[in-house]
Amino acid sequence: MTDQTALSFASMSAAGDGVAVVFAEEGAKLTPAAQDLDKKTKGLLTKAIQITTFKGAKGKTVDVLAPQGTKFTRIVLVGFGKPASYGHEDWLNLGGTVRGLLTGREGTTANVYLETVKSDVAPADVAAFALGAALRGYSFKKYKSKPKKTRGAASDKSLKKLIVHCADPRAAGQAYTPSRAIVDGVNMARDLVNEPANVLGPAEFAQRAKELTKAGVKVEVLSEAALKRHGMLSLLAVGQGSERPSHVVVMKWNGAGPKGGAPIAIVGKGVTFDTGGISLKPAGGMEDMKGDMAGAACVVGLMLALAERKAKVNAVGVIGLVENMPSGIATRPGDVVTGMSGTTIEVLNTDAEGRMVLADCLWYAQEKFKPKAVVNLATLTGAVMVALGKEHAGLFSNNDQLAERLTEAGKETGEKLWRLPLGPKYDKLIESKVADIKNTGGRWGGSISAAQFLQRFVKEGTPWAHLDVAGTAMASANSEINRSWGSGFGVRLLDQLIKDHYEHSASSRSTASKSKSRSKSRRKKAS
Ligand code: BES
Ligand code: MN
Ligand code: ZN
Repeated sequence: MTDQTALSFASMSAAGDGVAVVFAEEGAKLTPAAQDLDKKTKGLLTKAIQITTFKGAKGKTVDVLAPQGTKFTRIVLVGFGKPASYGHEDWLNLGGTVRGLLTGREGTTANVYLETVKSDVAPADVAAFALGAALRGYSFKKYKSKPKKTRGAASDKSLKKLIVHCADPRAAGQAYTPSRAIVDGVNMARDLVNEPANVLGPAEFAQRAKELTKAGVKVEVLSEAALKRHGMLSLLAVGQGSERPSHVVVMKWNGAGPKGGAPIAIVGKGVTFDTGGISLKPAGGMEDMKGDMAGAACVVGLMLALAERKAKVNAVGVIGLVENMPSGIATRPGDVVTGMSGTTIEVLNTDAEGRMVLADCLWYAQEKFKPKAVVNLATLTGAVMVALGKEHAGLFSNNDQLAERLTEAGKETGEKLWRLPLGPKYDKLIESKVADIKNTGGRWGGSISAAQFLQRFVKEGTPWAHLDVAGTAMASANSEINRSWGSGFGVRLLDQLIKDHYEHSASSRSTASKSKSRSKSRRKKAS
């Protein structure tokens, strides 16, 4: 669930209570705020440094109970290392680290005094810190019974307020404003990925996407009958064995208006559960396949973020929602189906289903919207984890510029991508004896032949990129900004890509004048 902690910004001198967080640089050099607190507590921090191994290294902490006579309950000294060399991701991660230290047990309010030894922290960096903290605040506890209240004891000891003290709280607050939308988008994606498949099938997922209407996104849910009319028989073949009907959801955000031109299209694999179908997966670990819709979850989270921050972009999200089940009416290995593009597909392995879903979604997105670029996300292959582990998502593209822009955006947000090759020799791997193509390319280079399959459904001249997020979007490795099973990978990445390269710049003038008039009323509040 989204963090219930209210996040705000205040000046360095504003009063605080509850938990105090202050910082030290390498060599255990205290910041002015830390020195101040040290004095007020008669050298408590200096003493704590002396009797521990704390030397101010990045992420290391010393934790003390605050003595009588201060308004705080607990003081945490956090190491910066060398903040002069920090980039966006360092501030983000530090925010996550600090939020991870705050349980709420020693006080439901926490005050973070963010400055370095010699200088103020820039508003954009304060905002990155706050974003990291907000993202780390997420946890998925929907299915944990509430502990029985013990009589008399105050029961809810979660963190209620996080106040980030900094040199220019008004500017930090302004820099943080779009991040509130990003947090909502990432957490929506995480919620969808974490939800079990008995609760979240294709129809229920579509219903959740429909809720984006409230944020101003136009959402259209296509029924099986509509999918049949469009000839999306490749996608339908995957959902055929399930009792639960398949859906495609189309989400439109026209933030740039008619002058913004053709949209960027984001396409997602939404297999709400992947048993493998008749080519049944082994039992061990199959439960993880509830997350086989992480690509689609990212698309929904991104569309929410774009709408909430009123991004000046025309974007369309297309997701294919199906459940891959074995049954008496399921697709068989050897079956041949014709997708919307007319390409015939020999299904050799019903567990290579994601590409069949995406084939029709990619084609639909191009036919319907003539997008200026298409990016798709999918938990497509186990092989991508063999190649890249859980640190990088696989990136495939027919366009060097788009690939580079995505890679750069990923470096900025910490959602790292690694480009893997495409080429005619790899394309040969999916030639079929009986149809145009087959849905598996054999044992070697499994992620590449899957990408080649997708490329068969990309029109000549459309810049396209495929992100294989099997290792990064679900069963995620712990990070400073995420401890949940679903990471929300891709939401911040694509938001960054759009912000850097697809937002309509002609409207920047009106934005500037708007923020000027807004700042007047803000100033009053801040004082
Ligand atoms: N959803 C899986 C890929 C996957 C595996 C995602 C593990 C996350 C974790 C996909 O549908 C699949 O089953 N791929 C097969 C392809 C093979 C049959 C050609 C795979 O990776 O083994
Ligand atoms: Mn599969
Ligand atoms: Zn799958």
